[in-house]
Formats: sequence, C-alpha cells, structure tokens
Amino acid sequence: MSSPAAPACTDTSAPVLNDFGGGPFGIYVHVPFCATRCGYCDFNTYTAGELGTSASPQSWLDALRGELATAARKFAALPSTTPEVATVFVGGGTPSLLGGDGLAAVLDAVRAEFTLAAGAEVTTESNPESTSPEFFERIRAAGFTRVSLGMQSAAQHVLRVLDRTHTPGRAVAAAREARAAGFDHVNLDLIYGTPGERDADLDASLDAVLGAGVDHVSAYSLIVEDGTALARRVRRGELPAPDDDVLAARYERIDARLRAAGLGWYEVSNWAADEAAVCRHNLGYWDGGDWLGAGPGAHSHVGGVRWWNVKHPARYADRVGAGGLPAAGWEALGADERYLERVMLAVRLRSGLPLADLAPSATPAVDRVVTDGLAVRSEDDRLVLTDCGRLLADGVVRELLG
Ligand SMILES: C[S@@+](CC[C@H](N)C(=O)[O-])C[C@H]1O[C@@H](n2cnc3c(N)ncnc32)[C@H](O)[C@@H]1O
Ligand code: SF4
Repeated sequence: MSSPAAPACTDTSAPVLNDFGGGPFGIYVHVPFCATRCGYCDFNTYTAGELGTSASPQSWLDALRGELATAARKFAALPSTTPEVATVFVGGGTPSLLGGDGLAAVLDAVRAEFTLAAGAEVTTESNPESTSPEFFERIRAAGFTRVSLGMQSAAQHVLRVLDRTHTPGRAVAAAREARAAGFDHVNLDLIYGTPGERDADLDASLDAVLGAGVDHVSAYSLIVEDGTALARRVRRGELPAPDDDVLAARYERIDARLRAAGLGWYEVSNWAADEAAVCRHNLGYWDGGDWLGAGPGAHSHVGGVRWWNVKHPARYADRVGAGGLPAAGWEALGADERYLERVMLAVRLRSGLPLADLAPSATPAVDRVVTDGLAVRSEDDRLVLTDCGRLLADGVVRELLG
C-alpha cells in the first residue's frame, strides 16, 4: 500500500478542505437532548437538568443555523459546486423532543442554506414516547420522508433494564401512526442480547415488528459502553455481560424471521423490504460519500477530510458565535486510512467489497475467508459475506487487513 497522500494532522483550527469527493452528499443534524439518559447509551446527549441554563433547544437551533451558514460559505469556496443534498438525517439524542414545529424549523434551516435534491430522503429519529399522530402529520407536511423509531424490545422487563420509558406497545403504535400520516418508510430499531432477555422475548419483539408493517428494521446487539451506568452494573455483578454465543443465536433468529417476512439484509445490522426502503443516508456513510455533520459532537467527511465538532452544546454555540466551523479537530485521511475504512465498511454490505479494491497482498486472506465459508466471490467480482460470515464480520475484516 502506498503512504498517505497528505500527512495526517489533527488540531483545533478550521479544517482545510480540498473539494467534494464526487459521491452523494448528505447532511446529518445532531439533536443533543434527551428527557432522561438510558443507562446503556454513551451518545453525545444531555438532559435539561445536566444543561441547566447553559443551553436550550432554542440556543441550539440558533447555533445550528449559524453552523449551516458557515459551512455553506466554506463549501462555496471549493472548486466544485456544492452538490444538491441527497439525504438529510436528523438524529440524536431525541429529535422528537423538539416537537413537530421544532423539526420543521430544523429542515427549514437546512433548506435556507442548501438545495435539497428532488426526491431527497429526509429522516428523523424519534423516541416512541414523544410522538403522536399530530407530530407525524406535522413533520410529513414539513417534508420529512422517513421515520426511525427506537423500539428496542417488546418486553417490559427488557425495556426496564435499558431504562427506556415507553411502554411495550407504544413503538408499534407510533409506527402505525407514522404510516397513517403518509410515511412509506418507517424503521424500527431493536436491541438484542440485553441481560434477562429470553428467546421468547425476542420472538415477541419480532412478532411486534412484523405486525407493525414497517419496511426497515435495524437490530444491534447491546454494547456495554465504558463509562455508562450499564457498564457499572455489569462490573458490580448486578447484571451479566451479554454472551457471544447467545448474541450469535439471537442474530440468526432475527435474520431468519425477517427474511421469511420478506425483509432482506443489505448491511449486517440492517434489513429492508425492497430497494426503495434502504436508508440512503447510511449507505452514503458506508460507501464513502460526503456529508456535513452539524450540531454538537457531529462528525463530517468531505473529499477525504474529516472533522468533528465540540461536544457540549454551550461550547458549540460559543464556537459558532465566534465564526468558523465549531470543529474540535480535523484530519486529512491518508491512503492507508481510506483503504482501511473502505474495507471495514464495504465488507458489511450485501453488495460486498469489489475485489479490485483490495490490495494484492490481501489475496491469501480472501482465499482463506472463502475456504472457511465466511464469504464468497460473487459473479461480479465482489467479496460478499455468507450467513455465517455475517456473524463474524469483524473477524473477516481483521483477516483482510491483517
Ligand atoms: C443513540 S439512539 C438515538 C435515537 C433515539 N434516542 C433512540 O434511542 O432510539 C440511536 C440508536 O442507538 C441505539 N444504541 C445506543 N446505545 C447503544 C448501545 N450501547 N448498544 C446498542 N445500541 C445502542 C439506541 O438504542 C437507538 O436505537
Ligand atoms: S433516548 Fe436514545 S439517545 Fe437518548 S439516552 Fe436513550 S438511547 Fe441514548
């Protein structure tokens, strides 16, 4: 492999951009507010009590407008014209805490500085307990096209371990309300492997998901993140750590049920009913596209340069107010880093990794993973994980990069 094209550098000054990379362009907006903190979550989010008077949804929205304007000015100075925005994804935190009018204002703020492509995918994450039929009608009218709901489980005792505040039936009811409001594309997020979850609980969750008539499901194993309340409970022995064999069996169960219901995997943790149902925004990340990540702690990537914002909403607003992008650091990706990311992300996709993208030195590793039944060479010369390989996707990546 060749050495990096430009020296990697990290500092707190403004990122130096070269140009757009030529792929699809998306905008991610990070909403850093939650009503309460779930014990397993280490995302950049704050409760009202933690923020006090230092930041509010209104000060965040004002700062967001400032950041979007600064980014649009910076992009306008690049050699290529700023592409139309193919996808917008409002995530968090809990975007639905902003209410329908608040989310409409977020989309207006994006539209004030950027041009949305015809047929753009516009998603918002939402927590089931902060949604209603009126909420979905308002955001549909505002231009959102897709809703992603954090369901996690249909079992009350699992939701309790996760500190989720919605009742077991609320996520499915919210999905139905979203569909009734005109959303063709609705995702339900599941978490599997929570301490105390039994096979029957997972089956009940899958029954509920399939009964909701959604066209997309994401299922992630519970990760015990360092520094979380969950990690402390596991360390104290109050809860057992998720078991790898149980996680693998649960994944197979999820895949079998979703597949039988006509939802196919297109990324290791994501299933869609058809091509129109895949999350184009996330595909942009996995395919190495360009995106602006706006909001506290958000990450951006444009043409091989990536930067990440300061995390605290008050510091973020201060930095936006001072002019310039509110970056905490940035780096120009070298050839080695781009290669690593390409392999790590493309291997997890159903479309697979083009064999031509792999270094010649990886050929023996390709032979090994194919011989071991973890991947196949497709007819169009891509390396595609088998069902068994999906359970060991990280190991396949390590093998290819080793
Ligand atoms: C960070 S949340 C933001 C959206 C919304 N607040 C929610 O909870 O659905 C996005 C997804 O990440 C999942 N998530 C967060 N921490 C996780 C962890 N430690 N393990 C697995 N999934 C996690 C959440 O459960 C949720 O489905
Ligand atoms: S609601 Fe979502 S973002 Fe907020 S703490 Fe829970 S998992 Fe994290």
